[in-house]
Amino acid sequence: MCGIVVAIATRNIVPVLIEGLSRLEYRGYDSAGLAVVGGENSDKLVRLRACGRVAELAALVEMSRLSASLGIAHTRWATHGAPSEINAHPHVSEGVAVVHNGIIENFETLRAGLQARGYVFVSDTDTEAIAHLIHHKRQTTPDLFEAVRLAVGELEGAYAIGVIADSDPARAVVARHGAPLLLGIGEEGMYAASDTAALLQVTRKVIYLEDGDIAELSREAIRIVRAGGEPVERQAHLSSLMPDAMELGPYRHFMQKEIFEQPQAISNTLGLVLGSHSVQEGLFGAQAFDLFDGVRQVLVLACGTSYHAGLVARYWLEAVAGLPVSVEIASEYRYRKSVADPATLVVAVSQSGETADTLAALKYARELGMKRTLAICNVPESAIVREAALRFITRAGPEIGVASTKAFTTQLVVFALLTLVLAKRNGRLSGSEEKKHMTALCHLPVAVQKVLELEPEIGRWAQRFAGKEHALFLGRGQHWPIAMEGALKLKEISYIHAEAYAAGELKHGPLALVDERMPVIAVSPADDLLEKLKSNLQEVRARGGELYVFADDDCGIAASECLHIMRMPEHYGMLSPVLHVVPMQLLAYHVALVRGTDVDKPRNLAKSVTVE
Ligand code: F6R
Repeated sequence: MCGIVVAIATRNIVPVLIEGLSRLEYRGYDSAGLAVVGGENSDKLVRLRACGRVAELAALVEMSRLSASLGIAHTRWATHGAPSEINAHPHVSEGVAVVHNGIIENFETLRAGLQARGYVFVSDTDTEAIAHLIHHKRQTTPDLFEAVRLAVGELEGAYAIGVIADSDPARAVVARHGAPLLLGIGEEGMYAASDTAALLQVTRKVIYLEDGDIAELSREAIRIVRAGGEPVERQAHLSSLMPDAMELGPYRHFMQKEIFEQPQAISNTLGLVLGSHSVQEGLFGAQAFDLFDGVRQVLVLACGTSYHAGLVARYWLEAVAGLPVSVEIASEYRYRKSVADPATLVVAVSQSGETADTLAALKYARELGMKRTLAICNVPESAIVREAALRFITRAGPEIGVASTKAFTTQLVVFALLTLVLAKRNGRLSGSEEKKHMTALCHLPVAVQKVLELEPEIGRWAQRFAGKEHALFLGRGQHWPIAMEGALKLKEISYIHAEAYAAGELKHGPLALVDERMPVIAVSPADDLLEKLKSNLQEVRARGGELYVFADDDCGIAASECLHIMRMPEHYGMLSPVLHVVPMQLLAYHVALVRGTDVDKPRNLAKSVTVE
């Protein structure tokens, strides 16, 4: 959701800006733009913007033969004002250009104040107020860095900004508060971006800015200060991300690639415990031994697919570790006056680590007095990871497709480890049970690989779904969240309306929707709820509904007219949801392929949801 690239170098930085923006495309956007200073023939600010894809901006750049040594660039996901060229960033105020990710909550007050001073607004964005505010500050404080520092002191809300001015062609200024921004130290210059992916083309040496940091980038140096102007040192890290991690390879889409990367992602996430028969607290951080002590309940905070991972984990933590668990949609929890127990382990789950609601919910839980916090996250150094006392980084590798796949299965792997650790502490796990669970966990990559072999058959099923406008997903117990995840995947990338129900709820309402036109997808493992589920499937058949059943090999359901069966491997016990979600992902992917949607960048959606 919105991406920023800033570059100042001894070379032409325009190709760096364009390449950086295309590496940020996966975050989701609807327009793109850039502004540069220090071109071949002029020291004036040049701005180009395009509604639509980065490729359209690149074409404009090509036509204008733009070349410069200082610039800022942006992909915009509309919040204030429609997607249009006029609302696209950068926004300019007489030679000062600004790109911004986040939301300025007091922009109306700022706008009114600036209008009263004679500033004319041409866009509907909150960002334009930042540009005019910096320009206004420069009337009394000409130094660009100081003017930015003073201006951000007046901003309320979340932001990461990049600023340049034509009067100051030797530096760029950036600042962050509640939205991601990191700096890159290159051989030919200095850079900043919303994530590392944008900078791998020029450097792997990065500095993660903290909230409240303001940085000045020149060709040779970086200077960082806090809001009050005090200088601060931030450590540089060598990113482990390799440039080829962002390449598609032999796959048609990143989503397909990421579905097929799951065995490797799970192995990488298991890391040190792969092949081991026991599990220890230390996996969750040095303080885990103390913070897990006396935990009486677990509160999971997350959004979307990560929320579904929490819903599965509730079944595990309650049944195996004997702990009561609540799983909360972060955007709801953060505004609810709930009852806090300090003996709660708060688990924030997020692929990106930047989801604004999850971050805010985590902070809120801490404010309520729950200090035992754990982040399960795929991005080290992300805001959520830095906010939590404990962390477990899923090693899924970069997830580029907007629809989350390998992040989900690796989150489940971490929850399984957490369940075993807490069960062990609670004296609820014998040595032989621990060994049995660990053996199953370590065998998961092989088991997932086997399920992936179903792809051709699922592709054939997808042909039948492609013409549908609605679908129902059913599951029971720990597979109910898998039905929810299947429905979410299908709707977000194929735009087919899909709903998921706990199968026992069918006759309490949704059964009224079932007729021969409604495909019903059932997640059907051979577990202790199978007989109950079979009765629910009969209810569908009796109303003429067409059933598509993903059944464990040992489930004993036979195919018949209007009851199609996809045979999964044998039942995998507690970890069965990890296997059953894979055909849900593949089904959504293949239906989207048939329908010709933009699989990796579904309409209206963003990868990192950095606004609430
Ligand atoms: C769905 C999907 C979203 C995310 C949600 C939370 O495929 O990707 O529902 O799961 O936006 O994002 P993270 O996990 O980054 O906090």
